[in-house]
Parts: sequence; C-alpha cells; structure tokens
Amino acid sequence: MDITLRKPRSEDGLAVHQLVENSPPLDTNSLYCNLLQTSHFGDTAIAAEADGELVGFVSGYRKPGAGDTYFLWQVVVGEKARGQGLAKRMIQSLMARDEMADVAYLETTITPDNEPSQRLFKALAREWEAELDISVLFDKDSHFGGRHESEELYRIGPIRR
Ligand SMILES: CC(C)(COP(=O)(O)OP(=O)(O)OC[C@H]1O[C@@H](n2cnc3c(N)ncnc32)[C@H](O)[C@@H]1OP(=O)(O)O)[C@@H](O)C(=O)NCCC(=O)NCCS
Repeated sequence: MDITLRKPRSEDGLAVHQLVENSPPLDTNSLYCNLLQTSHFGDTAIAAEADGELVGFVSGYRKPGAGDTYFLWQVVVGEKARGQGLAKRMIQSLMARDEMADVAYLETTITPDNEPSQRLFKALAREWEAELDISVLFDKDSHFGGRHESEELYRIGPIRR
C-alpha cells in the first residue's frame, strides 16, 4: 500500500469521522469536532492517505499550560492498513516536524482493555528511549459515573529524536 502522510485540511473532517466510526473501541466525536481537529488543530494533526482515501489519522494539541507537551487525542488506522507500522510512522513523523522540535513529552490516554494501543505507545517509548509513566487521568466512577472504562494517562518523555 502506497501511503502519503500530510497535514489534514478541513475537507478531511468527514472522512475522519467515518474512519473513527468504523474503528471500535474508539469513541466517536461530533463531526463538528472532527472539522475543528482538521482545521484549527491541523498543524498538530496528521493524515495518511492511500489512493485518495484517508486510511489513518492522528489528532492532538499542545497541552494548555504545558507547551512542551503534545496531547494526542486519538490515533486511528483503518482496518486494511493495520499491522504495517502506520500508527507508529504517523506519530513519529508528527513529532519530527520542525514546529514540534520543542515538544519533549507526549501524553495520551488509553483504556485498560486496549492492548493494541498500549503496545503502540510502549513501542514508541522504547524507540525514543524515553520514560513511560502510567496513571489514571479520568476514573471510571468519579469521572465517568460508571459509564466508561477509566482512561489511563500514558506520559512519554523526555523524547530523543
Ligand atoms: C491501535 C492502532 C492505531 C494501531 O495501528 P497500527 O498501524 O496497526 O499499529 P502499528 O503497526 O504502528 O504498530 C505499533 C506497535 O503496536 C503493536 N500493535 C499494533 N496493533 C497490535 C495488535 N492488534 N496486537 C498486538 N500488537 C499490536 C505492533 O506490534 C507495534 O509494536 P512493535 O513496534 O513493538 O512491533 C489501530 O489498531 C487502530 O486504529 N485501532 C482502533 C482504534 C484504537 O484503538 N485507537 C487507539 C486508541 S486512541
């Protein structure tokens, strides 16, 4: 599969929405939210395209009050493109951008049952030779009222690249 990585544009928002919808266990966001991710937050996002179709996407932003930290909101790879290192490549490519040179930490949250995602971020920490700290950010009961699994914070850094 010949895959191109690029910054997203607002016209990608709908395709992001559909990709996330087709990728359980990811939580879907509103289409409006995906439009903001691909426009206002486009500089801190990355899209992967194959044959004109969106096959992967990473959304995120610089964490308010902690400019050296990139908070990765969601990473998604379409079923057909999985298992080829695309998620890792998208995140590494995003962190390698000139404008991200001062980002020393990557944070994301993962539910305890999402093993592929845990493996992905452990692999990234290993390759960056960075520390990985895991703690609970949003708790199943106190934050989600029992409606959603806890979201565990994975904090990786300082990153060497
Ligand atoms: C999680 C997800 C993004 C991984 O995408 P991918 O492109 O297949 O991942 P990669 O090929 O880059 O793999 C990166 C690492 O994770 C491991 N990994 C990825 N998927 C795995 C799986 N299903 N089972 C075991 N390990 C897995 C790989 O072995 C690799 O580790 P390594 O470098 O030590 O070999 C993709 O499966 C997905 O979109 N899933 C649904 C949505 C989701 O759960 N997103 C994350 C929550 S925010």
